[in-house]
Amino acid sequence: MSEKDEISFDEYDELVNPRPEENDFDRVLEVALSRRDVFKGVIALGSIATLGSQFFSEPATAATNRFAFEKIDANSLDDISLPPGYSAQIVARWGDPLWSDGAEFDHGTRGDESSQLTAFGDNIDGMEVYAYQGKTLLVVNNEYTNRKIIWGNREEGKFANDDDVKKGMAAHGVTVVEIARDNGEWKMVKDSPFNRRVTPQTEMEIQGPAAGHDLLKTAADPSGTTALGTWNNCGNGSTPWGTYLACEENFNGYFSAPDDPEHKVSYELSRYGVSAKDWGYGWATVDDRFDVSKNPNEPNRAGYIVEIDPRNPDSTPKKHTGLGRFKHENAEVVVNHDGRIVVYMGDDERGEFMYRFVSNGVYAPGASTDGLLDDGKLYAAKFYETGAGEWLELNPETTGLADQAEICIHTRIAASAVGATTMDRPEWVTANPKAPEVYCALTNNKNRGIKPNAGGDLTPVGGPNPREGNKFGQIVRWRPNGGDHTSNGFAWDLYVLAGNPTVHEGLNAGSDNVTADNMFNSPDGIKFDDNGLLWIQTDGNYSNEEDFANQGNNQMLCGDPATGEIQRFLVGPNECEVTGLTWSPDRRTMFVGIQHPGERGNSHWPEGGDSVPRSAVIAITRDDGGLVG
Ligand code: FEO
Ligand code: CA
Ligand code: CA
Ligand code: CA
Repeated sequence: MSEKDEISFDEYDELVNPRPEENDFDRVLEVALSRRDVFKGVIALGSIATLGSQFFSEPATAATNRFAFEKIDANSLDDISLPPGYSAQIVARWGDPLWSDGAEFDHGTRGDESSQLTAFGDNIDGMEVYAYQGKTLLVVNNEYTNRKIIWGNREEGKFANDDDVKKGMAAHGVTVVEIARDNGEWKMVKDSPFNRRVTPQTEMEIQGPAAGHDLLKTAADPSGTTALGTWNNCGNGSTPWGTYLACEENFNGYFSAPDDPEHKVSYELSRYGVSAKDWGYGWATVDDRFDVSKNPNEPNRAGYIVEIDPRNPDSTPKKHTGLGRFKHENAEVVVNHDGRIVVYMGDDERGEFMYRFVSNGVYAPGASTDGLLDDGKLYAAKFYETGAGEWLELNPETTGLADQAEICIHTRIAASAVGATTMDRPEWVTANPKAPEVYCALTNNKNRGIKPNAGGDLTPVGGPNPREGNKFGQIVRWRPNGGDHTSNGFAWDLYVLAGNPTVHEGLNAGSDNVTADNMFNSPDGIKFDDNGLLWIQTDGNYSNEEDFANQGNNQMLCGDPATGEIQRFLVGPNECEVTGLTWSPDRRTMFVGIQHPGERGNSHWPEGGDSVPRSAVIAITRDDGGLVG
């Protein structure tokens, strides 16, 4: 499976499980021909005003802007670059021990299962800081591992024995660690009672409409209510009651059928990319749970949002089936003005959907929060080319599925049934704390207008997905009607259409707020700060060539929703993705995740020399001690 090293997970899934042939060419053509009208109506900021509202501000060319930093240039350095007056330090790296009896990271062996189980996990993604009892708790997703890094001591980066496989498994999950500032430096507090590793073997409780459903029952868990572990947690969320949400994304790539490579999975499993081949992790070779020919229901127990209470290291994490099952990117939790909990979520795969959950109950500080992430209604988004949009409820009547439990397990199939809009890979969603508006990064989609999604839904060019074979990505935003997040109607536009104005003209140059000075591709992590500024992290093409010339390494930028302005703040080291963002309680430190530096073998960050590149959390401060976002 050497191709896995050079292609994306989506591409690998499509090789194993080819997309259906296009069979409705007329419909695709008709939509494509109407593109010009769509662009006129959509891309210009302020176009919503033509619908009779004043939701979004006109672009402004202010003499000064709201950014508290000087813009920096793109580059391809194997280092962190920041504006003058800002500094970064390492807080935690893959393999750093959380307890004093844990082994320090070994650059020769890259650790083993035993050392990894007591150490910080790999590939940092979503993260959040919690203040509790005077302590600062950092919770971080450890999304996945890169074979050529974690098994770089083996031939061709392939596991050589069971311990290698188990080491890889132990590097997945979530890390909870207390951190403290010591002489101005943030450090992990070894042996803190709050330190915890949540791994693919940690016992979890399944909650919500699908708990106990036949499709969730396995030989090991005939009740269908207790699952083991979480893995491939990408973005995150956080609840107003102080818990962390880890979001299971590409859960499919860990299942295989080692004894039966021709094994055919059900249609329902193939809709999620499960097949007889995994992505090279080998988990089924050490744990039958991951052998889909022996345990065909096990994949139905993954693909959820997992709630973890960092304040109680003995707490049992909860898988919330009420929030649906798909390749979850993150979960943006909003408390509506009436107290109901609204969760916005994206399904990150080419041509998949965006979702919203609205709780039946209301949140009141101190009161029980049971059911607030399970007992409610689930919706998928429909975007109209007029700039209006609608949340389509997923229930047995609208979807034709048997009951709500099945909708919560086969959520993609339910959303296809209601005709939700196929999107350009929805990544993080974030809500503006200063206004009732929500943003979602649509990272890119080489299949837009070319291939349907895994369910056969067409992916016509238009609306919030305006470019065929979308290489650069865009950020869509919407404002719920009446400022009410539970309203089923909304108005949308594009905040930015990423592009490269030094190479292209027209749509691939990007929207007006993209310039030679701030251009980027593939927005992924996005998060508002308390001031209502939008931080944008990228996971894109860092070749610095052709379409991506002059864009350098992956980076982090800051956007002003009011003016559309965007300015580059950080450039990451070689072959990394910048993902995961949170702040210290006093907001004088910004924590950022640097994922998989050197994923293709060309980085020694952060230690330099001949060291193994290691994903790490960095802390960014202002040299004058001021607020950072
Ligand atoms: Fe793990 Fe959608 O990024
Ligand atoms: Ca992501
Ligand atoms: Ca991504
Ligand atoms: Ca990634």
